[in-house]
Amino acid sequence: YEINQDKYKEYYEILSDAHEFFKNSIKNDEKALKYMEERGFLPKDIKKFEIGFSLNERDELFKYLIKKNFSEKKILELGLVKRNESGAVYDTFRNRVMFPIYNPQNKIVGFGGRIIEKETDLPKYLNSADSVVFKKGKELFGLKNRGEAIKRKGFAILMEGYLDVLTVKRYGFETAVASLGTAFTEEQASLLKRYTKNIIIAYDNDEAGKNAIIRAGYILKKFDFEIKCLKITENVKDPDEFLRKYGKKKFVETLKKSVDFYNFLFLEFTKNLNIEEITSKRILVKKFKPFFETFENELDKELYIQKLSHEIGIEEKYLRQEFESEKSYTKKDKSNNNYIKKNSFDSKVQY
Ligand code: GTP
Ligand code: MN
Ligand code: MN
Ligand code: MN
Ligand code: MN
Repeated sequence: YEINQDKYKEYYEILSDAHEFFKNSIKNDEKALKYMEERGFLPKDIKKFEIGFSLNERDELFKYLIKKNFSEKKILELGLVKRNESGAVYDTFRNRVMFPIYNPQNKIVGFGGRIIEKETDLPKYLNSADSVVFKKGKELFGLKNRGEAIKRKGFAILMEGYLDVLTVKRYGFETAVASLGTAFTEEQASLLKRYTKNIIIAYDNDEAGKNAIIRAGYILKKFDFEIKCLKITENVKDPDEFLRKYGKKKFVETLKKSVDFYNFLFLEFTKNLNIEEITSKRILVKKFKPFFETFENELDKELYIQKLSHEIGIEEKYLRQEFESEKSYTKKDKSNNNYIKKNSFDSKVQY
């Protein structure tokens, strides 16, 4: 670790100095300040959360870093600048509010930048490219200080976006983190597991968010987290909007009403089903398969089988059979290349 620290020293210095440049640039930029104010961030919040701005200029950051005698190669490697076909170097981030991404050891490893223009074809967010010091799938935005806040509070809130994390932190919820514009990964789960086993997933209040909760939930379950899911019933897009519209007290109430991952799935899976019907019961059992196939803990699995059994009126032994046999059956048949799906009525009939 010591050796690596040394090896990557200049990379960290470049990132830290770029951060200084971004922070200085927001101070006098009326458009950027106005944008952040509209999103609820006053200059004191901008300072506290170390938010910066990348100027709408060709290569101001590049010139600044070169003047400091940093290696051009390393600046390029970090993705802070790019070289065009004619060989000229230009800044990657322009006209964006800049959020520093820290690793748990409090070193800046990259940035996320949000465009402040309203009408534009440019992507809304831009993240630093992966580099020797930054692997997107391994870091979490909002995680600092070796998870100190999460350890102290005993739980983490997993969110979708940079501004969800920053807004909930601004309201005093210190334990918010977000995966960096990509799907939540096993590496991120394993990182969080160092600090807590309790997690509330607070993704966006839309179809994409709900589907992402399911995917993240299965990953967290593999790592044996106690998982709850935030249920937003109000008409808002995401937790950021929720807090700004309804305030802290109502958000705490909603946090407390978070449902167990199983309950979340049950509600989602039965949304368009009438579980009194046999067909619906079969569909539901099928939908629950991935949930029951990812248990690390046999006792937990049994308890949830009991619960589902009571809820839909199917004897436990049949559920057990359904959630165990198929898994081994599939494996076995795949290995001898003779996979015939059990109960595959649909795929066999020819109408
Ligand atoms: P705001 O509109 O600023 O409130 O952003 P949001 O976080 O609510 O955006 P959204 O729910 O659309 O996206 C969630 C997260 O996905 C963002 O915070 C980004 O990390 C990522 N993301 C969204 N749009 C883009 C994009 O155009 N490019 C990339 N790379 N990431 C994106
Ligand atoms: Mn979203
Ligand atoms: Mn458990
Ligand atoms: Mn969102
Ligand atoms: Mn948002």
